[in-house]
Amino acid sequence: MYRIALTSEKGGVGKSTLAFNLAGALAGRGPVALVDEDSRVRSCLTWASLAPVPFRVLSPEQAGQGMGNPAYLIVDSEGRPSRDDLGELVRTFDRVLIPCGVSRLEIESTLSLWRALKGQGDAVRVVITKAPPVGRVGQEARDALRAAGVPCLGAVVRRYTAHERAAEGGGLVRDVRDERAGEAWADVQAVAAEVLA
Ligand SMILES: Nc1ncnc2c1ncn2[C@@H]1O[C@H](COP(=O)(O)OP(=O)(O)O)[C@@H](O)[C@H]1O
Ligand SMILES: [Mg+2]
Repeated sequence: MYRIALTSEKGGVGKSTLAFNLAGALAGRGPVALVDEDSRVRSCLTWASLAPVPFRVLSPEQAGQGMGNPAYLIVDSEGRPSRDDLGELVRTFDRVLIPCGVSRLEIESTLSLWRALKGQGDAVRVVITKAPPVGRVGQEARDALRAAGVPCLGAVVRRYTAHERAAEGGGLVRDVRDERAGEAWADVQAVAAEVLA
């Protein structure tokens, strides 16, 4: 079982959106269990209740009773984790994805988080999210973090209304009726490919 956790110190960065769609992208490669540990919001459990998806979404209680035998475990972890909890994730998961927006403040807080985590293992990858689809702001944010030594995925998740539509109706962004759904889904697939590389 390959274990992937998504975590962030800030809310609203697209953590649950990426966890959910990444689960959909990996479901093409093997059985996926997504555990929604964010008890404050329960986004993934809600989205899966609204539309069919090709993976299981479990509460922590359900996961504790058994997850079957997934090839991929994805955890949408609790919002506002302590740094101790983050360190624990880094030590116990194969990959820890940390979404980061493109603003200066978000980049600086990700840099500070990385400095606190970097001694604890090499599971961490930052992924730039909600990047403007036009221009190079997302790539520039990624390259600035990389220049500061932060391991970042090359893939950038762009900001598309299709993601918001998917959040409204539940289900995966690839299944939304939106002319940019294909681009939004391509970003998720690029993240999936890099996470498994
Ligand atoms: N790539 C994206 N493009 C556009 N909107 C996004 C994107 N990712 C997330 N969102 C929207 O941003 C809001 C917060 O996303 P969410 O995944 O719930 O964040 P988090 O789990 O980090 O709090 C939601 O309204 C969601 O639809
Ligand atoms: Mg969330």
